[in-house]
Amino acid sequence: MTETSPDIKKGLAGVVVDTTEISSVNQETNSLLYRGYPVQELAAQCSFEQVAYLIWNGELPTDAQAAEFQAAERGQRELRPEVKALIDGMPQAGHPMDVLRSAVSLLGALETTFPHDDRSDLDKSVRLFAQLPAIVAYDQRHRHGLDPVPARDDLDYSSNFLWMTFGEVPDPVVVDAFRRSLVLYAEHSFNASTFTARVVASTLSDLHSGVVAAIGALKGPLHGGANEAVMDTFAEIGTADRAEEWLDVALARKAKIMGFGHRVYKNGDSRVPTMKAALDTLVEFYGRQDILDLYDALEGAMAARKNIKPNLDYPSGPAYHLMGFDTPTFTPLFAAARVTGWTAHFMEQQAANALIRPLSLYTGPAQRGV
Ligand code: COA
Repeated sequence: MTETSPDIKKGLAGVVVDTTEISSVNQETNSLLYRGYPVQELAAQCSFEQVAYLIWNGELPTDAQAAEFQAAERGQRELRPEVKALIDGMPQAGHPMDVLRSAVSLLGALETTFPHDDRSDLDKSVRLFAQLPAIVAYDQRHRHGLDPVPARDDLDYSSNFLWMTFGEVPDPVVVDAFRRSLVLYAEHSFNASTFTARVVASTLSDLHSGVVAAIGALKGPLHGGANEAVMDTFAEIGTADRAEEWLDVALARKAKIMGFGHRVYKNGDSRVPTMKAALDTLVEFYGRQDILDLYDALEGAMAARKNIKPNLDYPSGPAYHLMGFDTPTFTPLFAAARVTGWTAHFMEQQAANALIRPLSLYTGPAQRGV
């Protein structure tokens, strides 16, 4: 760096760009708090609806507030025909995140058909929250040539999500593991997709545009796409006894091992113990010790070779696989949970806005004639 060149923070690593009241990721204590509550306590004690309410409103709901929120969410779970037609027309070779991104974009356009007066961004967020499971479930069933399953308003969010996807409500062990994963995925401060949503918010664009952009950022394998990549890795390795050899080959060609490492946590992801415990219950329920053996073998080999620890995507990938989700559906599940955080940040950004517009250091050719 010369005296005149600016100090470039590649990837904005270590840069604090704004304040937030929504969550804190604490590297030193290895903890994650949503509005002050440790995420593992929320995962143990709260429904996903309560956590969503907390993320948006700053406090856990009272019974009356929870009932009102429940009615709003359950009343908006069915997809409109326009959205079903869009999913039907999407290319099957496309990724489910492409479907989700397109469907959310259409939902944004359809917002213009609702009466305008009482339509806040919070209303829109709750509507998106209610609709995303229906999109994900409809798409997975469509890809299998199965008829859609209508939403049930007698079921909580997590049970209904599984019901709409599989046409049955699984054992409570499975529902509970799924609910925990959603709570853990809901919010994580200024991660790449949330920051993307905040950049869009900062231009005073609309909420759905922010969510569409965030979905695009989440899709990448360095972010949300990692949970799918973990399952692809497991499929490639096959059995636990081959994990070390596979890892050596992958590291020799300088590959990033998906589901390991984190920009903020360097001593382990605070969400992993809760999700690993949920995975353990699923492994026992489905009698799939082979998956756990592979999980342990790769984690151990990675610790020995690189001393890099798993992130949340490492246990959630195999957990979603055991539940019966297709691998390309894993990241849309992450998106369905994270839409709470994205929209909360979108609203927070606009409530105290400054256009996000950093600078760059030009390194191209010096001025020249045409
Ligand atoms: N596999 C192999 N090596 C890894 C690694 C991984 N998953 N994660 C980090 N490293 C290595 C890097 O190669 C680098 O080594 P070097 O100093 O010898 O070059 C070092 O650890 C630091 O990594 P860096 O890429 O600078 O960290 P980062 O903070 O920029 O990256 C991630 C964080 C998440 C992008 C990175 O860990 C990664 O790519 N992980 C895999 C994708 C993933 O699981 N994403 C989900 C995140 S929740």
